[in-house]
Amino acid sequence: MESLLAGLRAAGEPTRLRLLALCAHGELSVTELTQILGQSQPRVSRHLKLLVEAGLLTRFREGSLVFYRIADSGESAHLARTLVDLLPDDDNELSRDLVRLDRIRQKRAEIAESYFQENAGQWNKIRALHVPEADVEARLRELVGSARIGSFLDIGTGTGRMLELFAGQMDRGVGLDLSGEMLAVARTQLEKDEYRHLQVRKGDMYNMPIDDQSVDVATLHLVLHYSLEPASVIIEAARTLAPGGRLFIVDFAAHQEERLRAEHKHQRLGFSDREIHQAMVSAGLEPGPVDSLSGDPLTVKFWQGSRLH
Ligand SMILES: C[S@@+](CC[C@H](N)C(=O)[O-])C[C@H]1O[C@@H](n2cnc3c(N)ncnc32)[C@H](O)[C@@H]1O
Repeated sequence: MESLLAGLRAAGEPTRLRLLALCAHGELSVTELTQILGQSQPRVSRHLKLLVEAGLLTRFREGSLVFYRIADSGESAHLARTLVDLLPDDDNELSRDLVRLDRIRQKRAEIAESYFQENAGQWNKIRALHVPEADVEARLRELVGSARIGSFLDIGTGTGRMLELFAGQMDRGVGLDLSGEMLAVARTQLEKDEYRHLQVRKGDMYNMPIDDQSVDVATLHLVLHYSLEPASVIIEAARTLAPGGRLFIVDFAAHQEERLRAEHKHQRLGFSDREIHQAMVSAGLEPGPVDSLSGDPLTVKFWQGSRLH
């Protein structure tokens, strides 16, 4: 009763209701919200603080930026969604806010797109060295299976592709990446209603902001070759797995393409089955069957490990 009253009190003010409506459409920074509302930043921040304290919004920091999104867990999350659903579609002020939100999203998308274009050429060159991505994704889907996944973690998510691929079968998904630019691309990619249960966050694969034993399926898709300490990454991934949780690593078999080091900053020229097997065992995982898709010159490998207890 007390938290319901606190939630209703926090939402019972025009600017705060507008903020709630906006944050239901995606993750927005204080600067963006200030631009949309046309009010001073300290004022907007005060309203946001009250909404966070009442549990209607969640707040997270990414480098120098602070983002807000509608709460998706906790007692007040249901209230937040219910209030947003009750908002009239034909309210002039809310409609104007959404038009401004669209403009901001477009601007974000343009910035993300230009970064993506600068790098896309590089990625296409690597893609040409192995089997088509669609084949890799189809094989990974087969290996993961179609059972429902409670909590999904994609490590080094890039554009958020793995989140999209498994979106339909998970309750919630988090993608982590170290690069703010990649996260901006991913965020743009995932700004759809059907992806409300997905989030991307800044995070280092060596020290992830993810609770112990909280993940059912984790993926490292074409990420591990950026690491000089792959065993540490696997230990960190294993830490997050719940009992019965599974880690899938998709990466290259050991190869001789030295130019990938210089031209694409690969730290490792693929991995042997033995190395990954040992790293999984050291991380307390039970290694599963290994699969592969042969390509010229790069063969894509699928390694998996489960946490038994
Ligand atoms: C080749 S991309 C793969 C992206 C995605 N997994 C996919 O397959 O589409 C590798 C990603 O790993 C990220 N990355 C590299 N080092 C990282 C680290 N230490 N922690 C988190 N992400 C990292 C890069 O920023 C990049 O987005």
